[in-house]
Amino acid sequence: MSKKLNIGLVGFGCVGSGLYQVLNKSRLIDARIKRIVVQDPKKERTLSLDHFSFDVNDILNDEDINVVIELINDSDAAFEIVKSALSSGKDVVTANKKLLAEHLDELVLIAKENNASLLYEGAVAGSIPIIRNLEEYYNNDSLTSIEGIVNGTTNYILTKSNEGIGYIEALKDAQNLGFAELNPKLDVDGYDSKYKLVLLIKHAFGVKVKPAQIQNIGIKAITPYEVAYAKEKGYRIKLFSRAEKLGDSIVGFVAPHFIKDIHFAYNVNNEFNAVVVEALFSDKQLFIGKGAGSYPTASAVLSDVSALKFDYQYEYRKSKEGKKLRFSNDFFLKVYVGSPFIEAVNEVPFYHVDELFQSDDYVYQTGWVKFSELSALQFNNRTDLSLVILSDKLKATEELIEVKNARRELEYL
Ligand code: HSE
Repeated sequence: MSKKLNIGLVGFGCVGSGLYQVLNKSRLIDARIKRIVVQDPKKERTLSLDHFSFDVNDILNDEDINVVIELINDSDAAFEIVKSALSSGKDVVTANKKLLAEHLDELVLIAKENNASLLYEGAVAGSIPIIRNLEEYYNNDSLTSIEGIVNGTTNYILTKSNEGIGYIEALKDAQNLGFAELNPKLDVDGYDSKYKLVLLIKHAFGVKVKPAQIQNIGIKAITPYEVAYAKEKGYRIKLFSRAEKLGDSIVGFVAPHFIKDIHFAYNVNNEFNAVVVEALFSDKQLFIGKGAGSYPTASAVLSDVSALKFDYQYEYRKSKEGKKLRFSNDFFLKVYVGSPFIEAVNEVPFYHVDELFQSDDYVYQTGWVKFSELSALQFNNRTDLSLVILSDKLKATEELIEVKNARRELEYL
């Protein structure tokens, strides 16, 4: 028999208010929101003040509430709330990717000890049901790679830049539409995409990785020169989160990519997200859907709520196999770097140069680099140097035949 759900909702922003409406509209789910807690009594809201409480303990101490839905921005405060709710045996649904990327193992342990569920479909790629599919459908170790666009804000900005709309204006629109994080640096510098990648790697490969291990390069430094280069070559620029099995390692990173029109994600625009899953026998499969915004994210939260009626829990079945794999940044890939200054381009340690272009006001170079060596360049802090990935394929260090004369001399590339 399905259980009765009494919900305590923490947060009534873009997703929280969306969930309230989605729950009211959905007749399929027998769940009621017993209490909504928000922080600021003065903030204008779509419901009258008497709908809200202002102390989270009103939810945490209410024994009648058996589900806590956490939808606030502050991931430190969310950590305390989620910990406390799970400790008292309440099920938790959250869409807080930063919280989960940083504390997943600890929270899963607390949930287990208290026989509570911790679900978070809305934390990755908004409305796309990727976590549950990785858990249930791809519940073996046949996955070889997972990649895609998992941030709606940057995809919106990049789509608009392709239409000739500037970065500042596009970001403002994304903020007004409720796609962007409170601190948009998290979106544009690739942190949000990285937190989501941590969760994808955990569910796809069973591998634990800390956010600090994954290098994230964002889109801030992309100039009209890169947009023009993409147009000339028939590419589009997309911020990709990427992870794949390379030998006994899982490699993963976030960076802007030039992608060709044959790529599944080429026509995925605005706030839409796309996740491409590759497995040994099925080859590539594409998931597409709105990755940000009130209702799309609320729909994923709603799906978790309905799963709770049957006490659904993630089982993390791949964790055992995942222990045999290690996370690594040691691989080679092909990149484009552009700058007004040749000195800046020369800072990038190329192993092999394919093309060097110089005009009066811009320089770009393409070729092969070792990914781990890029972190020293701190791309997110630079306005004079843009990096965009050109590779479909990543190459393991062992694949390099001779690194003897290193830069510029790898014959087979
Ligand atoms: N800021 C996030 C995005 C919200 O743009 O994708 C959804 O996680």
